[in-house]
Amino acid sequence: MLGPVILAASRSEKMRRIVSAAPVTKPVVNRFIPGETVDQVIPIVSDLTAKGLEVTLDVVGEDITTVEQSYAARDAYLELVERLKDLGLGERAEMSVKLSMFGQALPGGHELALANVRPVVEAAAAIGTTVTLDAEDHTTLDSMFAIHEELRKDFPQTGCVIQAYLFRTEADARRLAAAGSRVRIVKGAYKEPAEVAYQNKAEIDKAYVRILKILMDGEGYPMIGSHDPRLIAITQELARKAGRKLDEYEFQMLYGIRSEEHLRLAAEGHRMRVYTAYGTDWYGYFMRRLAEKPANLLFFVRSMITK
Ligand code: FDA
Repeated sequence: MLGPVILAASRSEKMRRIVSAAPVTKPVVNRFIPGETVDQVIPIVSDLTAKGLEVTLDVVGEDITTVEQSYAARDAYLELVERLKDLGLGERAEMSVKLSMFGQALPGGHELALANVRPVVEAAAAIGTTVTLDAEDHTTLDSMFAIHEELRKDFPQTGCVIQAYLFRTEADARRLAAAGSRVRIVKGAYKEPAEVAYQNKAEIDKAYVRILKILMDGEGYPMIGSHDPRLIAITQELARKAGRKLDEYEFQMLYGIRSEEHLRLAAEGHRMRVYTAYGTDWYGYFMRRLAEKPANLLFFVRSMITK
């Protein structure tokens, strides 16, 4: 019940100011967002990859209001590519991008976001890695998929995300499950209306399995973004049935969530990529993590009271 309330708060400017200013917020935020600068996150990338994990890096930020902010987002990713180049990890360290941060919601935003993301994808390809386009709320997805298709003409390894809670996603999965595609399947983290999305956890989980099956039986490269132990077991079973080898799909989990499981799956020989977010504009990302697990909120509130 708390999840939708927290998701609504994630869009409130007033709540953003209150939560961001609270002194106790920082330690809780750090669990999910381990740094504010590229200098702080690079040692974390080295540490995770030394443990046999892979990484996708997200510079946090979304819902920007000026074109200048969209250029700043592009430049932050270009700076990140420069730093990844020094590490020489290739595709073991890729990047995740929210197109809203690249200006998608501004007037002329589709073209602006494409123009901003292209140099990032190009720079990523030059150092042997790639970019995955995150899925945001359902109103943004036609534009995201069109940008994905456009980028794939020159950079076919560009990935995208699909969300199991949306009714449209099975059709998207069929279209995307083609040779050379890289698709991350997640449950979905935004507050979506009943006209477009399942509202019930059991229905979302069932849809996830149907979509997973489409991806596993297809010819693309599925990236399973979930911490759900049941879905991880089902993934392994479907991969076995589809005759996929361990390097023909990968698991992905968020930094700070079920970290022992990251290591366990990697030790079993699976590719395990840790989605690692960093930056100063962490509010939206942080609130979605609270909404996913109300116990996180209780922990947060308790630390405010006992301080
Ligand atoms: P579920 O929510 O059922 O959780 C299963 C178990 O995992 C829980 O019981 C708990 O133990 C643990 N867990 C899950 N979330 C937790 C949390 N916040 N704190 C502590 N424990 C937690 N969404 C989206 O809309 N667009 C996107 O682009 C992405 N990208 C993305 C990348 C990656 C790598 C991941 C893992 C997830 C996303 N998501 C996303 C988020 C996704 O939609 C979903 O909200 C979360 O993954 C939670 O769903 P689970 O599949 O983990 O299952």
